[in-house]
Amino acid sequence: MRTSVTKIPFEDLGAVTKHLRGELVGAFERVLDSGIFILGPEVESFERLFAEKFSLGQAVGVASGYDALTIAFLALGLREGEVIIPANTYMATVLAAMRAGLSPVLVDPDPETLLLCPEGARRAITGKTVAILPVHLYGLACDMGQISLLAKEHGLKMVEDCAQAHGARFGGRFVGAFSDAAAFSFYPTKNLGALGDGGVVAVGEPATASRARMLRNYGADERGEAVEIGLNSRLDELQAAILKVRLARLDETLRRKNEIAAAYDAGLDKRIKRPLPVKGSTPAKSLYPVLFQRRDELKEHLAGLGIGAKIHYPTPPHRHGAIAHAVSGDFPVSDRISSTILSLPLSERLTDGEVKTIIDAVNDFCGK
Ligand SMILES: Cc1ncc(COP(=O)(O)O)c(C=O)c1O
Repeated sequence: MRTSVTKIPFEDLGAVTKHLRGELVGAFERVLDSGIFILGPEVESFERLFAEKFSLGQAVGVASGYDALTIAFLALGLREGEVIIPANTYMATVLAAMRAGLSPVLVDPDPETLLLCPEGARRAITGKTVAILPVHLYGLACDMGQISLLAKEHGLKMVEDCAQAHGARFGGRFVGAFSDAAAFSFYPTKNLGALGDGGVVAVGEPATASRARMLRNYGADERGEAVEIGLNSRLDELQAAILKVRLARLDETLRRKNEIAAAYDAGLDKRIKRPLPVKGSTPAKSLYPVLFQRRDELKEHLAGLGIGAKIHYPTPPHRHGAIAHAVSGDFPVSDRISSTILSLPLSERLTDGEVKTIIDAVNDFCGK
């Protein structure tokens, strides 16, 4: 029987926050002493810093990435018609489009990048298409050159899902800056994570940003009068203050995660398939997925050695009950991804020794 030789959790958020404890407590006390908890100076300054960091027009702080996507659609007036979405994404991407009133049209991803395939997206455009939604998964940027061109040629709005890709770039430009509106998530495991939920809608056009600000606050204008039906989806002052601490360290986080990913790239058995970054993109790795036929056995092998690995995601969007009825077509690439994908640990607090242990454990299994 195998004995557990080590303990490497998939993610250790406690280790990340422990490292920043003094600054996080300072941020918490500042908000506590201010007596302002909703839509105050912390949210305002975080929005400004976030927009500056990624060269975005304006950032609007909201309660989650899911709400950010929903508000992005609503602020752009996208409430009916078809939206093209990669079939390999988290369910929230598709649910948000449906929540706004749109019909999702799924497109099987490129089998090499695992991201939205520009050619597939082109073939999916119909007279009812109103928008296209690239998703930058795992910290890998989509082919924003081709996708932007496609949107322009067909007069489509574009909304980017940047929930997993803070700091990723295409052609030197940060993701989120290519589209009419972009959504970011601050779910705790993201590269820029809050101590709870949070998100941002990034918008270039000032009028759209103003509408997003209204929509996060019931749809009320500056007089406090509801002019349309919105959400209660405001980023908390407390989360904004915490996020400012993490934003100041984001480059450090991304540098370490990219370094670990590079060690995996170099050390893992070459037979193990991994997503290929799009030409011209600069990843900001948030997950490190490998694709392996005997995925479940590999996961078990790692668990036996005390190494945590996770599946992103075990059920593709088109197989969720709430979504299946609204989409048509087959998505064999997406199905294959979800049955073979496994994310290896990528915490910024992993030591080089732990990374080596993981590489050896995966290679050992691969050789069997
Ligand atoms: C690709 C993608 N889109 C949307 C979301 C939704 O973000 P949140 O969990 O903040 O609602 C997530 C995060 O979980 C995600 O990974």
